[in-house]
Amino acid sequence: MSKLWGGRFTKETNKLVEDFTASIEFDKELALEDIQGSIAHVQMLSDCSIISEDDAVTIKHGLKMIEKKIVAGEVEFSVAHEDIHMNIETLLIDEIGPVGGKLHTGRSRNDQVATDMHLYLKKQTQSIITLLTDVQKSILFKSKENVHTILPGYTHLQRAQPVSFAHHLMAYFWMLERDKERLQDSLKRINWSPLGAGALAGTTFPIDREQTASLLGFERVYPNSMDAVSDRDFIVEFLSHASLIMTHISRLSEELVIWSSQEFQFIELDDSFCTGSSIMPQKKNPDVPELLRAKTGRVYGNLVGLLTVLKGLPLAYNKDMQEDKEGMFDTVRTLDGSLRLLAPMIETMTVNQENMFAAVSQDFSNATDIADYLVTKGLPFRQAHEIIGKIVLYAINQDKYLLGLSLEEYQQFSPLFTGDIFEILQPKHVVDARKSEGGTSFEQVKNQLALAEKYI
Ligand code: ARG
Repeated sequence: MSKLWGGRFTKETNKLVEDFTASIEFDKELALEDIQGSIAHVQMLSDCSIISEDDAVTIKHGLKMIEKKIVAGEVEFSVAHEDIHMNIETLLIDEIGPVGGKLHTGRSRNDQVATDMHLYLKKQTQSIITLLTDVQKSILFKSKENVHTILPGYTHLQRAQPVSFAHHLMAYFWMLERDKERLQDSLKRINWSPLGAGALAGTTFPIDREQTASLLGFERVYPNSMDAVSDRDFIVEFLSHASLIMTHISRLSEELVIWSSQEFQFIELDDSFCTGSSIMPQKKNPDVPELLRAKTGRVYGNLVGLLTVLKGLPLAYNKDMQEDKEGMFDTVRTLDGSLRLLAPMIETMTVNQENMFAAVSQDFSNATDIADYLVTKGLPFRQAHEIIGKIVLYAINQDKYLLGLSLEEYQQFSPLFTGDIFEILQPKHVVDARKSEGGTSFEQVKNQLALAEKYI
């Protein structure tokens, strides 16, 4: 099959080379963006009198016909035409004749592919922001039901201080809020238009880059044509933001796995989000959060992969850059699938409030509060800490918890103790006492939920 660039060649391309250099198998995902970019380009060519209006109408019509066929699944792309750009151009010439060959006037595949990627990533970034909001909504929904649900808060995975379950869940809400903010900010740079940069140096035709930029919904043009065709920062940025999103998803998933274990039994994932074992009939496995945790790895891999592709590249376009695509598509698919699962999984999980409460009733997570109690009675915090340490050790030796000791036992350690200590030690009191801004007291958590409403 003859190539669009076949003129200076005397031999057919080796079949292995053809397969090795082709990107059509994956960049066909950019088909609609490619057509969108071409329509804007051809409109501008005619408005700038570079091609005739009649030719532009014919070409635009041809492109729309091809678009329809692609959407209907009627188009077979060919490896012989290497990539989506040359496939579509060939289809166009087949459809409308030699006039289709005017489309590529004043343009190169280098600015064309960059434009396609900008258009694609803009759409996907907006979609991921929406999906992140859906997860935030599910977190908020679950949190509202659990303001007064108390569970141990952990540091070092050791019970530290009891917290409201809503408070714990809402920590993830704010992580996702920052993720959204980062994606939103990245749109500023995704919104630069590379179209019209040509192969690398610009073009001899009197084109109007501002026009194509605005037709495509971009905010500005790249001021430097060499930067325009060789910039892949916006993809790196996307992969980096995606990596952080996956980090957050993975941390939450890890908690869901732990909480649903026999040892914790804090939550139960809905049956429809779990799978069984082919040998052990009793098993109900948290496969979804496990896979969410694991898929983080491939997203990190895609980030490191692209950074490595780019690090030694001289300006401007190099074929290496074709390797920017699969990792990006894979990341979009992974994020999209993960976020779509996460929201309903959170919404449908059962929270075992009694088990959570039983856990805080059988630990020393109220110890800080007796230290604070002695401080309010005038003792320096450091001395209070020392005394409570001794009380905890004493209780452990007695096989008791802090609420199980008598007032006399407390008074052996300090005469400052009085009967009100038993109220102070109640888990509910412990949680509600943390009234500092952003703390876990019920009031503060409610304020937090009200604030969160404004973000979704
Ligand atoms: N398929 C190529 C890519 O994705 C398109 C640009 C090709 N440009 C070139 N000069 N070979 O990078």
